Amino acid sequence: MRKPLIAGNWKMNTNLSEATSLVQAMLPELDRIAGVEKVLCPPFISLVAVRELIKGTSVELGAQNMFSEDKGAYTGEVSPLMLIDLCAFVILGHSERRQYFAETDEIVNKKVKKALGFGLTPILCVGERLEDNEAGRTEKIIKGQVQAALAGVNSTSHLVIAYEPIWAIGTGRAANGKQVNETIGFIRQTISQKYGKRVAQDLRILYGGSVTANNIAEFINQPEIDGALVGGASLKATEFLSIVKQTSEIKGHLSRED
Ligand code: PGA
Repeated sequence: MRKPLIAGNWKMNTNLSEATSLVQAMLPELDRIAGVEKVLCPPFISLVAVRELIKGTSVELGAQNMFSEDKGAYTGEVSPLMLIDLCAFVILGHSERRQYFAETDEIVNKKVKKALGFGLTPILCVGERLEDNEAGRTEKIIKGQVQAALAGVNSTSHLVIAYEPIWAIGTGRAANGKQVNETIGFIRQTISQKYGKRVAQDLRILYGGSVTANNIAEFINQPEIDGALVGGASLKATEFLSIVKQTSEIKGHLSRED
């Protein structure tokens, strides 16, 4: 039984007052939706304010990145020690980090290990480029990214994976539900080979890439897809609420606690 999870990745959008307004616009309704884990990932500078707003609700908080060192002379970086009393989740290895900030598999691996060591739940992002997809290399690329990110990791009890084909992110060109289901099934198989069937069956694997209120059902109806990492559509309160609500209607019963 895997509780579905919807995470909103606000990326580099919203200042403090916009972030506050966005949370206030969706919070009462978001809090009431059962059977789905709901995670908001605002920019670093709004984490404290959002944490105050969601206190005592069923909504959780995530960061969009972190550095792999505990502390020290790393100007501009944010460490896991700064995050642990603020949030439970941290997005790691997002393709935008890999593309614009030269994050390699090795860097992502260091961050994953560090996050897990501090009890943060990484939302580990993997995904292939369009040319890899068209050349039929999706599985090879994804397997390589998963294995590299989890090198030296013994336990995946706190881990979420997000499969985000790069060509589907922010393009309005979402992947096809059936194909995503197959790729996520393949990721589960890769996890199973390393950690065993039980761990693989319990691991939540999300889809990300141009998810909207109009297409979320196509993904959530697939057996392997446990939720979504939502970018652009998470910045619109009514659209994000609709995505979470549909997920609850389709898969909310899978949650043990509710
Ligand atoms: P998008 O972003 O929903 O805007 O495509 C998804 C993501 O990058 O996590």
